[in-house]
Amino acid sequence: MEDVSLEGLAHRFGTPLYVYSEAAILSQIRRFEAAFHGLPHLFCYALKANPSGRLCRLISSRGLGADIVSGGEMERALRSGFPASRMIFSGVGKTESELDWAVRRRLLFINVESEEELRRLEGVAKRLKKTADISVRVNPDIDPRTHRHITTGLAVNKFGVPPAAARDLFRRAAKQKHLRPVAIQCHLGSQIREVKPYLSALRQLLSLARSLAAEGIPLRWLDIGGGMGVAEGEKGELNPESLAAAIAPEMGDYPLRLILEPGRALVAGSGALLMKVLYRKASAGGGPLRGTPGTRLRRGRDGRRFVIVDAGMNDFARPSLYDAHHPIVPAVLPRGGPKFRADVVGPICESGDFVAKDRLLPWPAPGDVWAVLMAGAYGFSMSSQYNSRPRAAEVLVSGHEAALIRRRETLKDLFALER
Ligand code: LLP
Repeated sequence: MEDVSLEGLAHRFGTPLYVYSEAAILSQIRRFEAAFHGLPHLFCYALKANPSGRLCRLISSRGLGADIVSGGEMERALRSGFPASRMIFSGVGKTESELDWAVRRRLLFINVESEEELRRLEGVAKRLKKTADISVRVNPDIDPRTHRHITTGLAVNKFGVPPAAARDLFRRAAKQKHLRPVAIQCHLGSQIREVKPYLSALRQLLSLARSLAAEGIPLRWLDIGGGMGVAEGEKGELNPESLAAAIAPEMGDYPLRLILEPGRALVAGSGALLMKVLYRKASAGGGPLRGTPGTRLRRGRDGRRFVIVDAGMNDFARPSLYDAHHPIVPAVLPRGGPKFRADVVGPICESGDFVAKDRLLPWPAPGDVWAVLMAGAYGFSMSSQYNSRPRAAEVLVSGHEAALIRRRETLKDLFALER
């Protein structure tokens, strides 16, 4: 990674270990900025993808805004240098105190997702004698053709309100002294690889924004959410250049600034999860395991070969949750040698605990370091202490330097909060 040996990092900091490349994040930001150069826009980084303070500081220092979904993310975003004036607050279940904090801090806007939330926000703003800038999140009922667990803009999903209801909320907000509608928003889902769903959503939002302007409710921002997909398995990324090229003619010279809320696209490719091979074994029918690395194993009809690693679904949940396909490579690439089909599994006591299934890989020796790639987004941020496993450490690489940005949790940390 950059000028640093991954195997060296694994020995120095232990495994499992998340490592991120600063250069990769910066280059992805530059790429998005270049693609959207011709359009007035603001990127609001979705902190949930990776809320590490160091990464957030890097991203805020490049002038991006933040998309937050909890009081905790608001605090993180503020501490890492995102100004409130570039922060937007999404989510279907904001509590009264979260709304209170958001109104006091005067965020760029608060994304309203239901009529009841609008009423609650009205009450909060009135009590604080402030005016809150708001957007309404539209549920456009568009299929982004991604995994069902990460689809958000279908009518069956809990997010946003249908376009007709959105219009009513805008009208209602426009009449309130303490609310000011400034934006219209939607978010279709995550790991989207096609431009088409974005275009359909954009057209819906634009037409609503235009008719609201004609009624005397002019908006400033048009936010089409995040979800820009990165390469996974056989499937390629959503190219930001194509997305920008498709959006530009639609926006025309309409005076609305565009917001995108990329999370994964900015950080996924920068990160790898390093893990160590603990054991190899074969199930019944999986072929004899004669031990010496490189021994060719025959695979029976029902048999499986397993490589057991020290990273589990508590460290990296994406394969178990979404059947996600992440590349796995040995930290030191072998010079040739045979490859074998195997399941790469963790130490957690569940059969759903796997990093990869049926993957063609060089047969490792215990102690070998392997890297799970594209692990910079929704990796550490979704990790847990399940099975009483302390969470992994995180390291940021820049050129020849490697800095520990979050220490490994200890056994003591496991008990720290218990009474
Ligand atoms: N904006 C909103 C309102 C969101 O809900 C999300 C993600 C984003 C932006 C950023 O989406 P991105 O650009 O990162 O795709 N844990 C899942 C992904 C869940 C995404 C939830 N919302 C995974 O590992 O695939």
